[in-house]
Amino acid sequence: MSFTSPEQRQAFIADIPKAELHLHIEGSLEPEMMFALAQRNDIDIPFASAEEVRKAYAFSNLQDFLDIYYQGMNVLRTEQDFYDLTMAYFKRIHADNAIHAEIFFDPQGHTERGIAFSTAIDGILRALSDAEAHLGITSKLIMCFLRHLSEDDAFATLEEATPYLDRIAGVGLDSSELGHPPSKFSKVFAKAKMLDLKTVAHAGEEGPPEYIWEALDLLKIDRMDHGNRSLEDDGLIAKLRDSQMALTVCPLSNLSLCVVDKLEDHPLKKMLDLGLCATMNSDDPSYFGGYLNDNYEATAVALDLDKDDIITLAKNSFRGSFLSENTVAQSLQRIDDYVLAFDRKTG
Ligand code: HPA
Ligand code: ZN
Repeated sequence: MSFTSPEQRQAFIADIPKAELHLHIEGSLEPEMMFALAQRNDIDIPFASAEEVRKAYAFSNLQDFLDIYYQGMNVLRTEQDFYDLTMAYFKRIHADNAIHAEIFFDPQGHTERGIAFSTAIDGILRALSDAEAHLGITSKLIMCFLRHLSEDDAFATLEEATPYLDRIAGVGLDSSELGHPPSKFSKVFAKAKMLDLKTVAHAGEEGPPEYIWEALDLLKIDRMDHGNRSLEDDGLIAKLRDSQMALTVCPLSNLSLCVVDKLEDHPLKKMLDLGLCATMNSDDPSYFGGYLNDNYEATAVALDLDKDDIITLAKNSFRGSFLSENTVAQSLQRIDDYVLAFDRKTG
């Protein structure tokens, strides 16, 4: 079914219950907070204003962005900084009617510059607990390994996480994809699986279909981040469709990093039409120009998504989550109830 007006589409997107499954918490650092934390921690940053920071966010590929992203996180120093960062994100997605989020953090981005693992994770975990208590948003935390570093470094990070394993849902793989295939991390992912952690990996954002096969066959991932380039390989499409593996797709990120030239070329609609379990996500919202509903809205306009597409995307965000079967079923029911009430109201 199509929407009868842009306002109706916006209202439907704004209020439908949804989850976010691909969000780097360090990528939600807004320029205003970057300035506030720089001042609080007495750190010099090479920008005069938040506007100037935003102007610097023009990227031509993933590495361009990563260079600025690692520089930006340098203002995060104390447990309170990590708490404030995380809480600001949850307040923001509360306004988007997100009711669950599975967020990444990059511990090596902090330990590499002398910030203790515990400083980062304690602040994040305290915010996750407060977000659930005060905003009613449930969450899971996924610890990413930086793939431009060695597998030994990843093992050391997993070791550091030992006291926190009951509060970490899974491990992921992010940072520079090209030249750092999933196979580089097969041993540490096997160890994570032994520890009962879920596994996810960025694959096929810039990297070729072979990297996606490696993530599936060698890392045995439970969910794939991005996965855009799966569409170049019919065997991959069939495998992803048959297994209903979730893909955490990030349209505004793909546009910012020139993975697509324009949003109208984005493969999300094609993924849905092929029966893949695609989900909508913001990746690094402060860098890529939009949070969760901005992604839904811009993509709906560019690809002419209809109401059923939006419902499928919202439902897939729970189907692809690491929530219990029961909670997934309840969340799907909540979406059905929402759609019924919306249809009744709009006639
Ligand atoms: N891709 C890879 N690594 C990342 C990203 C991304 O979009 N964001 C933060 N780390
Ligand atoms: Zn990402």
